[in-house]
Amino acid sequence: MDLRVRTGITAAALAESITRLRAAGCVFAEDEAEVLSAAAADEIALRAMVERRALGEPLEQVVGYADFCEVRVLLLPGVFVPRVRSELLVRMASAATSTGSIVVDLCCGSGALGLAVRGRRPAIELHAADVDPVAVACARDNLVENVYQGDLFEALPTRLRGRIDVLLANVPYVATRHIPLLPAEARDHEPRTALDGGEDGLDVFRAVISGAGEWLAPGGIVLSEITEAQAETALAAVRDAGLAADLGHDDDLEACVVRGQKTVGPVR
Ligand SMILES: C[S@@+](CC[C@H](N)C(=O)[O-])C[C@H]1O[C@@H](n2cnc3c(N)ncnc32)[C@H](O)[C@@H]1O
Repeated sequence: MDLRVRTGITAAALAESITRLRAAGCVFAEDEAEVLSAAAADEIALRAMVERRALGEPLEQVVGYADFCEVRVLLLPGVFVPRVRSELLVRMASAATSTGSIVVDLCCGSGALGLAVRGRRPAIELHAADVDPVAVACARDNLVENVYQGDLFEALPTRLRGRIDVLLANVPYVATRHIPLLPAEARDHEPRTALDGGEDGLDVFRAVISGAGEWLAPGGIVLSEITEAQAETALAAVRDAGLAADLGHDDDLEACVVRGQKTVGPVR
């Protein structure tokens, strides 16, 4: 086994971390011990971090960052960990922007999606908002400016009304009855408001879609991740709101994104 000794972290401390993580059932104990030891200032800090991880806290919350779509996203305990599948949202949003595009990351959590889009398209004007003050603090760490707190569109400056080119809204979309089926990492360490989308999982989605037409620029789009099972209901909600609707898929990521567009001509 290659136990790389880092400054201040001995091979013995690394081996002890692996043993503790294995005992706690971590499948990737060696890899996680490496990540934790790289993030720990010293062995005392490492032991504390290993213990948090062993008790089930997501690795990203313990080390304080997640690597997502080629950007490093700072994370605080209790803030939703960006999911790999959300790369599809980032790709679809990036493809729809050009210099000066106004992009809003609504329900931004850590701000991961906006940060990743800005990483690919630095010339956009980015705004982000979330209802959760801890998420807002985290998003401010990542995005620095134009981060607001409040309920959906109420958080946004009114000058953005009718001017948003890309509205990213990775809303909570787990049906309430499915929450107990989530991994304990999510259930116990991510806030319910970040996960629970109501009876069919689409309550917050529907609220976003019903306001989107008013906030989008002509031709602007709204993008939301959903499950395949929600696709037909979500498409119908988008069309009912007067927007053109279609779906994006990535089978490798197991991702499904519904896109609504404020058309200038007749709605498809
Ligand atoms: C699934 S998480 C997504 C976070 C982030 N966009 C990401 O992909 O990593 C959903 C986020 O929506 C926020 N949220 C839930 N209800 C909201 C509301 N009514 N207004 C604003 N934000 C809300 C939660 O606080 C949480 O941060």
